[in-house]
Amino acid sequence: MIERINSLVAEIDSIKAGSLEEVEQLKLKYLSKKGLVSVMFDDFKLVPAEMKREVGQMLNDLKNKAQQKIEELKSGFEQKKSDISANLDLTRPTDNIRSGTRHPLSIIRNQIIDIFSRIGFTVAEGPEIEDDWHNFSALNFTADHPARDMQDTFFIATNPDILLRTHTSSVQIRTMENTKPPIRMIFPGRVFRNEAISARAHCIFHQVEGLYIDKHVSFADLKQTLMYFAKEMFGENTKIRLRPSYFPFTEPSGEMDVSCNICGGVGCNICKYTGWVEILGCGMVDPNALENCGIDSQTYTGFAFGMGIERITMLKYQIKDLRLFFENDVRFLQQFTGAF
Ligand code: DAH
Repeated sequence: MIERINSLVAEIDSIKAGSLEEVEQLKLKYLSKKGLVSVMFDDFKLVPAEMKREVGQMLNDLKNKAQQKIEELKSGFEQKKSDISANLDLTRPTDNIRSGTRHPLSIIRNQIIDIFSRIGFTVAEGPEIEDDWHNFSALNFTADHPARDMQDTFFIATNPDILLRTHTSSVQIRTMENTKPPIRMIFPGRVFRNEAISARAHCIFHQVEGLYIDKHVSFADLKQTLMYFAKEMFGENTKIRLRPSYFPFTEPSGEMDVSCNICGGVGCNICKYTGWVEILGCGMVDPNALENCGIDSQTYTGFAFGMGIERITMLKYQIKDLRLFFENDVRFLQQFTGAF
């Protein structure tokens, strides 16, 4: 009996608890009616009379020790709890949650969509992985056409017929194949070219393509549409200038400049002191491209144009290095806020 009391004393000395619930469990284990300490008292009657005094004293000490230990553990936890709530300052300001901003390219893309949607253009998208037909052949690029070399194409290594689209003009073809005129649509999207990355070029960039096919669509309609766009995007005083150019899928083809919105046309380093900056390619859709898509070129005519979103964004915000768009530096990105 004495041995058991001693071993219980040692055991109680060393008990630890990780939570108030554990303390309650320990209380049950040692001090409840059937607890390890309590049952020792039941056995007290078996102790010989001459030892009752000594053993009785030891049992009382054991019980006191167990109660004391449990109380200590319990008040330790309660103290901790009240320390925490005493130190809680609910009036302390928190760190602000910084909400993000839209990427400048998304702001300008949405603005372009908004401008064209006001004159009846709807939006469609196409795949980024294309086949030769939609990216080149249907657009009147013959197999050995030198214009193919102008667009440094990423081909899928095992299959020269599959490539990353080099322009959004491929979506013109997909749309003309599947839609009966009149068609009045724009096609925003990401395009890919195997170009060395620099302040002015990247291997990934964004374009918006426009297409209008109907009876009696003329070059005058193209010019008016682009003039409307330029004024909406760069301001009422913006002037446009069309220069003859060449694209296999348009005839005639042109490139459009806008008067420099930085210097107002006087000349600055953005417009290289010419007063003009180039923003897009355009033209009347070549009859071959219409026929390739099953559209009767005797009945229908149309115009198309394509612009780089990076270029427009750089002009709008006077950004000098295109690489900034892709570096995800919040110090750059958070400067752009807009309704779009
Ligand atoms: N696809 C041409 C390019 O990426 C841009 C372009 C030029 C699109 C003339 C057109 C267009 O729709 O008519 O260089």
